[in-house]
Amino acid sequence: MANDLDDFVCELQEQIYEETRKAYGEDGFERWLNMRYMGRMPNPDGYARLTGNCGDTMEIFLKFEDGRVKEASFLTDGCGSSAVCGSFAAEMALEKTPDELLDVTGEAILERLGGLPKEEEHCAYLAGETLQEALNDYMTKQVKKG
Ligand code: FES
Repeated sequence: MANDLDDFVCELQEQIYEETRKAYGEDGFERWLNMRYMGRMPNPDGYARLTGNCGDTMEIFLKFEDGRVKEASFLTDGCGSSAVCGSFAAEMALEKTPDELLDVTGEAILERLGGLPKEEEHCAYLAGETLQEALNDYMTKQVKKG
Protein backbone atom coordinates (compact mmCIF):
# COMPACT_ATOMS: atom_id res chain seq x y z
CA MET A 1 0.00 0.00 0.00
CA ALA A 2 2.73 2.41 1.06
CA ASN A 3 4.73 1.36 -1.99
CA ASP A 4 1.80 2.04 -4.26
CA LEU A 5 1.54 5.50 -2.83
CA ASP A 6 5.28 6.09 -3.20
CA ASP A 7 5.10 4.96 -6.83
CA PHE A 8 2.16 7.22 -7.47
CA VAL A 9 3.93 10.24 -5.92
CA CYS A 10 7.07 9.44 -7.90
CA GLU A 11 5.18 9.20 -11.16
CA LEU A 12 3.33 12.40 -10.43
CA GLN A 13 6.57 14.20 -9.67
CA GLU A 14 8.15 12.90 -12.87
CA GLN A 15 5.16 14.10 -14.83
CA ILE A 16 5.31 17.56 -13.25
CA TYR A 17 9.06 17.75 -13.92
CA GLU A 18 8.59 16.73 -17.52
CA GLU A 19 5.88 19.30 -18.12
CA THR A 20 7.88 22.02 -16.39
CA ARG A 21 11.01 21.19 -18.38
CA LYS A 22 9.00 21.38 -21.57
CA ALA A 23 7.46 24.74 -20.59
CA TYR A 24 10.54 26.52 -19.19
CA GLY A 25 13.36 24.91 -21.16
CA GLU A 26 16.43 23.31 -19.57
CA ASP A 27 17.84 26.49 -17.94
CA GLY A 28 14.43 27.59 -16.70
CA PHE A 29 13.74 24.13 -15.29
CA GLU A 30 17.08 24.08 -13.45
CA ARG A 31 16.32 27.52 -12.02
CA TRP A 32 12.85 26.42 -10.97
CA LEU A 33 14.40 23.52 -9.06
CA ASN A 34 17.19 25.64 -7.52
CA MET A 35 15.76 29.09 -7.19
CA ARG A 36 18.33 31.90 -6.91
CA TYR A 37 18.20 35.63 -6.13
CA MET A 38 14.89 35.28 -4.30
CA GLY A 39 14.33 37.37 -1.20
CA ARG A 40 13.78 40.79 0.27
CA MET A 41 16.77 43.13 0.34
CA PRO A 42 17.10 45.66 3.15
CA ASN A 43 17.61 49.27 2.02
CA PRO A 44 17.78 48.75 -1.74
CA ASP A 45 19.00 51.64 -3.93
CA GLY A 46 16.31 50.83 -6.45
CA TYR A 47 13.01 49.12 -5.74
CA ALA A 48 9.73 48.48 -7.54
CA ARG A 49 6.58 46.47 -6.97
CA LEU A 50 4.23 45.90 -9.87
CA THR A 51 1.04 43.90 -10.19
CA GLY A 52 0.37 42.37 -13.59
CA ASN A 53 -3.01 41.95 -15.29
CA CYS A 54 -3.04 38.37 -14.00
CA GLY A 55 -3.16 39.77 -10.43
CA ASP A 56 0.31 38.54 -9.49
CA THR A 57 2.85 40.85 -7.94
CA MET A 58 6.57 41.12 -8.65
CA GLU A 59 9.11 43.00 -6.58
CA ILE A 60 12.67 43.78 -7.63
CA PHE A 61 15.45 45.07 -5.37
CA LEU A 62 18.72 46.57 -6.65
CA LYS A 63 21.85 47.67 -4.89
CA PHE A 64 24.48 49.68 -6.81
CA GLU A 65 28.17 50.10 -6.23
CA ASP A 66 30.44 52.24 -8.40
CA GLY A 67 27.65 52.76 -10.91
CA ARG A 68 26.90 49.07 -11.41
CA VAL A 69 24.38 46.64 -9.94
CA LYS A 70 26.18 44.90 -7.10
CA GLU A 71 23.21 42.90 -5.78
CA ALA A 72 19.79 42.09 -7.17
CA SER A 73 16.87 40.07 -5.90
CA PHE A 74 13.19 39.51 -6.49
CA LEU A 75 10.02 38.36 -4.78
CA THR A 76 6.78 37.24 -6.34
CA ASP A 77 3.50 35.75 -5.21
CA GLY A 78 2.89 34.53 -8.74
CA CYS A 79 3.22 31.33 -10.71
CA GLY A 80 6.36 29.25 -11.17
CA SER A 81 7.26 31.01 -14.38
CA SER A 82 7.07 34.44 -12.74
CA ALA A 83 9.59 33.18 -10.16
CA VAL A 84 11.85 31.85 -12.93
CA CYS A 85 11.55 35.14 -14.82
CA GLY A 86 12.15 37.23 -11.69
CA SER A 87 15.21 35.17 -10.91
CA PHE A 88 16.66 35.65 -14.40
CA ALA A 89 15.79 39.37 -14.33
CA ALA A 90 17.84 39.70 -11.13
CA GLU A 91 20.70 37.64 -12.53
CA MET A 92 20.77 39.56 -15.81
CA ALA A 93 20.82 42.87 -13.88
CA LEU A 94 24.02 42.01 -12.02
CA GLU A 95 27.10 44.07 -12.93
CA LYS A 96 25.10 46.23 -15.33
CA THR A 97 25.24 50.03 -15.50
CA PRO A 98 21.91 51.91 -15.58
CA ASP A 99 22.32 52.28 -19.34
CA GLU A 100 22.90 48.57 -19.84
CA LEU A 101 19.96 47.75 -17.57
CA LEU A 102 17.64 49.32 -20.12
CA ASP A 103 18.28 46.25 -22.29
CA VAL A 104 17.02 43.81 -19.65
CA THR A 105 13.44 43.77 -20.84
CA GLY A 106 10.77 41.10 -20.88
CA GLU A 107 11.88 40.28 -24.41
CA ALA A 108 15.48 39.79 -23.27
CA ILE A 109 14.34 37.51 -20.44
CA LEU A 110 12.27 35.45 -22.88
CA GLU A 111 15.27 35.21 -25.17
CA ARG A 112 17.49 34.10 -22.28
CA LEU A 113 14.98 31.35 -21.47
CA GLY A 114 14.59 30.35 -25.10
CA GLY A 115 10.92 31.32 -24.90
CA LEU A 116 7.93 30.39 -22.72
CA PRO A 117 4.51 29.03 -23.62
CA LYS A 118 2.42 31.87 -25.08
CA GLU A 119 0.12 32.05 -22.07
CA GLU A 120 3.09 32.56 -19.75
CA GLU A 121 5.03 35.13 -21.75
CA HIS A 122 3.43 37.93 -19.72
CA CYS A 123 5.34 36.67 -16.65
CA ALA A 124 8.60 37.64 -18.37
CA TYR A 125 7.18 41.07 -19.26
CA LEU A 126 6.09 41.60 -15.66
CA ALA A 127 9.63 40.80 -14.47
CA GLY A 128 11.17 43.08 -17.14
CA GLU A 129 8.82 45.97 -16.37
CA THR A 130 9.41 45.67 -12.64
CA LEU A 131 13.16 45.76 -13.22
CA GLN A 132 12.79 48.89 -15.35
CA GLU A 133 10.70 50.51 -12.62
CA ALA A 134 13.35 49.64 -10.02
CA LEU A 135 15.92 51.31 -12.29
CA ASN A 136 13.62 54.33 -12.53
CA ASP A 137 13.41 54.47 -8.76
CA TYR A 138 17.22 54.41 -8.54
CA MET A 139 17.61 57.14 -11.17
CA THR A 140 14.99 59.35 -9.50
CA LYS A 141 16.82 59.05 -6.18
CA GLN A 142 20.11 59.90 -7.89
CA VAL A 143 18.60 63.08 -9.37
CA LYS A 144 17.15 64.06 -5.99
CA LYS A 145 20.53 63.54 -4.36
CA GLY A 146 21.95 65.92 -6.99
FE1 FES B 1 0.86 36.03 -13.24
FE2 FES B 1 2.76 34.41 -14.20
S1 FES B 1 0.61 34.11 -14.24
S2 FES B 1 2.99 36.38 -13.41
